[in-house]
Amino acid sequence: MKNFIIVGVSGFVADRHLSAIKKTNNNLLAAFDINENVGKLDTYFPDCKFYKKLSNLKSFIKKSKKKIHYLSVCTPNHLHFKHIKFGLKNNLDIICEKPIVINKSQSNKLDNLSKKKNKKVFSILQLRNHPSLLELKKKIDNSKKIHKVEIVYYTYRGDWYFKSWKGNSRKSGGIMLNIGVHFFDMLIWIFGNVLKKKMIKLSSLSAQGELLLDKANVSWKLSLDKKDISKITKNKVYRSIKVDGKEIEFSKIFNDLHTLNYKSILNSKESNLLDAFKAINLINSLKKDYEV
Ligand SMILES: NC(=O)c1ccc[n+]([C@@H]2O[C@H](COP(=O)([O-])OP(=O)(O)OC[C@H]3O[C@@H](n4cnc5c(N)ncnc54)[C@H](O)[C@@H]3O)[C@@H](O)[C@H]2O)c1
Repeated sequence: MKNFIIVGVSGFVADRHLSAIKKTNNNLLAAFDINENVGKLDTYFPDCKFYKKLSNLKSFIKKSKKKIHYLSVCTPNHLHFKHIKFGLKNNLDIICEKPIVINKSQSNKLDNLSKKKNKKVFSILQLRNHPSLLELKKKIDNSKKIHKVEIVYYTYRGDWYFKSWKGNSRKSGGIMLNIGVHFFDMLIWIFGNVLKKKMIKLSSLSAQGELLLDKANVSWKLSLDKKDISKITKNKVYRSIKVDGKEIEFSKIFNDLHTLNYKSILNSKESNLLDAFKAINLINSLKKDYEV
């Protein structure tokens, strides 16, 4: 059994981490958040310590008689670098939400620190654990064709989103990094390196472009705009991936993927920090192309 601590425990995605830690039969010793709305801890780990200051979590780590193995990072995107660094400096392996960091200098610094400390840094990349996408990857690995891929991801977000850190592109990285990173990561993971790229549209509400990868010609569209999604469905989310015109069914178990992701991370011997950074690097270069 591994002992965890967590930062950002009060937020939305932390529930999936608490559940994954529990379902993989591990334990949570301590949690930190600046917000104290954390009653959910009692459902998962009633004996967990809770801190509202990072310095108090640090004292807990120093004094703990139990070995602490992992830090789970569930804070906003712009704080990942700070919190991963905190964990590495305290000799913990890290499991961090996507996007693992926001820029290359952060990725390089953390890679160096993790090597110096002999600790591992993992990004949550839950689509890589999705059974339908694992099956698709197998097929593509055995194919020599250039496939036609169409991705549409529309997910409605209300007023709150744009007033929170998520709507602040300096903090979240904007729609492509905050919402699209899963899909860019999945594309590179399955279809290979980026050979050509083109941005068609980019705003705070939507983005659209085309990519040529080793094994795919991709057209992609992301949108948070009610107008886009309401043209297709009455639901709040519409996800579609078509490969050579055939729809890949992958929406059904979207919410259980964190546990699968934890299982694979707990069995991994190597960090996936640099691998996870490939999609972030692509997104950053697409954003730059559009600005020019
Ligand atoms: N993998 C996924 O499908 C998925 C889904 C949603 C969010 N995320 C990622 O998870 C992370 C958290 O997103 P969320 O939706 O839970 O956001 P959220 O705003 O609901 O939660 C963030 C939490 O961090 C806390 N926080 C903010 N500043 C802090 C600080 N300085 N120190 C400690 N805690 C602080 C907040 O109080 C809040 O509880 C982000 O990186 C996001 O991109 C991933």
